[in-house]
Amino acid sequence: VVNDLTGFAAGTYLRGIRWVGLPTSLLAMCDASLGGKTGIDLPQGKNLAGVFHSPSFVINDPIVLESLPFTELRNGMAEVIKHGIIADPQLFELCRHGWNGVYQNVDTIVRRAIAVKVKIVNADPFEKDERAVLNLGHTFGHAIEKVSQYRVSHGEAVAIGIILATRLAVRLDLAEKNMQEHLIKAFSLLNLPTYPPEGIDPVEILDGMAVDKKRTSGKLHFVLPSSIGDVRWGIELPDERKTILSLLSERN
Ligand SMILES: NC(=O)c1ccc[n+]([C@@H]2O[C@H](COP(=O)([O-])OP(=O)(O)OC[C@H]3O[C@@H](n4cnc5c(N)ncnc54)[C@H](O)[C@@H]3O)[C@@H](O)[C@H]2O)c1
Ligand SMILES: [Zn+2]
Repeated sequence: VVNDLTGFAAGTYLRGIRWVGLPTSLLAMCDASLGGKTGIDLPQGKNLAGVFHSPSFVINDPIVLESLPFTELRNGMAEVIKHGIIADPQLFELCRHGWNGVYQNVDTIVRRAIAVKVKIVNADPFEKDERAVLNLGHTFGHAIEKVSQYRVSHGEAVAIGIILATRLAVRLDLAEKNMQEHLIKAFSLLNLPTYPPEGIDPVEILDGMAVDKKRTSGKLHFVLPSSIGDVRWGIELPDERKTILSLLSERN
């Protein structure tokens, strides 16, 4: 690219270089390669410096999944289920019965998961509004990932975060209690965790949430599921600290 300095002279590269996505993990295919969020990690947390810069195009070849380790397939499924909960009940249905269903329907699952993200990103490319729904499970998830010193993977943290968000939704009467059980079962059948690991202090998770870059006006803004295929966003908690601490201590 730098051999061709015509673009450089014209300022093209000062605005970022064009790039193409070649995702090789399920997670990258269904989520990270789409939407143009780029980022680098800082000591304070992951992805804290970044810009929106979409790829020119993304090439998806499912053959790469054949060599993907099982743990990484599982991590990808956390984001795929997230997309089902946000906007596609049929996608969730294909994922909720465990691995046999996933293996039998992998092409459909990948296509549907991509479609959810693309639709949301196209409607709000710079996350001014409804793109925030894609952060379902991430306010808790990012903090758990960080406090665990990244021993908890991103996918695991997202699964735990989605269950915490669902518990919160049930407490706030935004969701039915059976939704919580339903989601715990779906994640468990895909070998994903549903509780923060033992030994992590809830206060540390809470403090980790405070540096979440999505925090605005001094309050955390939550994305909470109300039913499969429907989520609310921008929800603030009246007694934030107390509510979160009691939620993180719940083990039933
Ligand atoms: N930018 C975004 O919008 C966005 C969205 C979701 C997640 N993310 C970020 O994405 C990251 C996770 O992405 P990831 O799961 O692709 O991580 P990754 O690139 O670290 O891949 C996970 C592991 O799988 C291996 N691997 C990948 N493809 C393989 C293949 N085909 N065969 C064998 N091994 C393979 C990698 O070497 C690595 O060890 C997280 O840090 C998360 O924060 C970003
Ligand atoms: Zn994620």
